[in-house]
Amino acid sequence: MDKRDEVCFEGPTVTKLLGQLDDGTLERVAEALRAGDLVAFPTETVYGLGANASQNSAVQAVYRIKGRPAQDPLIVHCSTYEQTTKYISEDATKWQRAIHEVLARRFWPGPLTLILPCNPRLIVSSVTGGTGWVGLRCPNHPIAKRLLEFADCPVAAPSANLFGHVSPTTAQHVFDDFPNVDNLWIVDGGSCGFGIESTVVRIHEENNVEILRRGGIGRDELIACLVDSGVFSGTAEAQNSVKVIERFVGLKSSLPSMVSPGQMLVHYSPRIMMQMVQWSSYENTVIHWNAISSERLRKTILIDFSGMFSALTKRVEMYRDLSQSGSSMEAAHELFSTLRWAENSAGEDHEHWQIWIFDPRALQIKQTDELFLALSDRIYRAAAGRAIRICIKPNSDQVFSSVH
Ligand code: TXA
Ligand code: MG
Repeated sequence: MDKRDEVCFEGPTVTKLLGQLDDGTLERVAEALRAGDLVAFPTETVYGLGANASQNSAVQAVYRIKGRPAQDPLIVHCSTYEQTTKYISEDATKWQRAIHEVLARRFWPGPLTLILPCNPRLIVSSVTGGTGWVGLRCPNHPIAKRLLEFADCPVAAPSANLFGHVSPTTAQHVFDDFPNVDNLWIVDGGSCGFGIESTVVRIHEENNVEILRRGGIGRDELIACLVDSGVFSGTAEAQNSVKVIERFVGLKSSLPSMVSPGQMLVHYSPRIMMQMVQWSSYENTVIHWNAISSERLRKTILIDFSGMFSALTKRVEMYRDLSQSGSSMEAAHELFSTLRWAENSAGEDHEHWQIWIFDPRALQIKQTDELFLALSDRIYRAAAGRAIRICIKPNSDQVFSSVH
């Protein structure tokens, strides 16, 4: 295929496809994917950077261009549940297979990744980061589904961003991170509907299901499904067996250190210093307050939720609210694109700017709002756990801050 036929805009080597995503075009892109090219494509969560998971050279190219450590495994994307069963090891237990089937039939296509022992004959070991376990997911997006159907091969696809950077929810975000890559196709399907990544679940040995990353599908939904299907005898057994593994590796250090893949504290980060903020009262004498100069505020971008910090709109340089109505769904959809907007707004002058984002821990949101918990997780990691309190001194109007 002559890539230039379809090009809307092009870096030196990247091809971006816009509009006219008819079957003929997708079929040709799928062929390139199968043959070893990289193809970034939209899913309902974020854009993925796809490579043929049975070709080591293609998979290695994904790690290389992302700058991702080799021990951090990639999710394999498939068009059907039946296809995913081929990629599971013969050694997987009956119980593991049963859980796989029950969860897949209930939540696929959708934002759920299931981790199971890998079949090394069909998936190259670099995909598993050498762990022997493979993450499997059937995305729910018409373009992703069609592309995967045509590719007819397992497609390893991490989020299509540079390692540690903010995940991409538009084709432009992908292009911004990878403007100069040989044999990379970017399929533009507009903005991703959901906006944060899938829930990642490891199906261990008997009675041990671990949620490694929060997403739109919550623990309660997983438990209800497993109880309904009869896998667990009752809710108590399921509650004991399905655990959220919340690790923030490198909590005390600003350097990312890899202990367990994907659980690093520093992740999803914009290139500007970001802190979580919550209100406090100036009368709180235990806190040591520092006055913030108006020059500092003129280099501050404030990202709010349900208008909590609207009193500061005129004092900071830029202000956006992820959801004025306080909707987790809307905020999840907006988060990553807002972080990228903030980064771009500061331009080249990164080190002099700062982002303040509302501290989700200060909000009394119901624990059952799984999407809000997933959002909180992304915000906490994007800010690398940094938090401050702020207040306005009564009668002086001066803004103060204190490390939290
Ligand atoms: O929504 C999503 O999951 C998106 C779209 C493109 O599908 N993909 C995505 O991939 O977020 P990535 O690579 O950015 O994040 C996958 C996470 C990583 O934290 C990785 O460590 C973990 O899932 N993961 C994948 N396979 C794993 C495995 N075999 N064992 C443990 N963790 C795994
Ligand atoms: Mg990612």
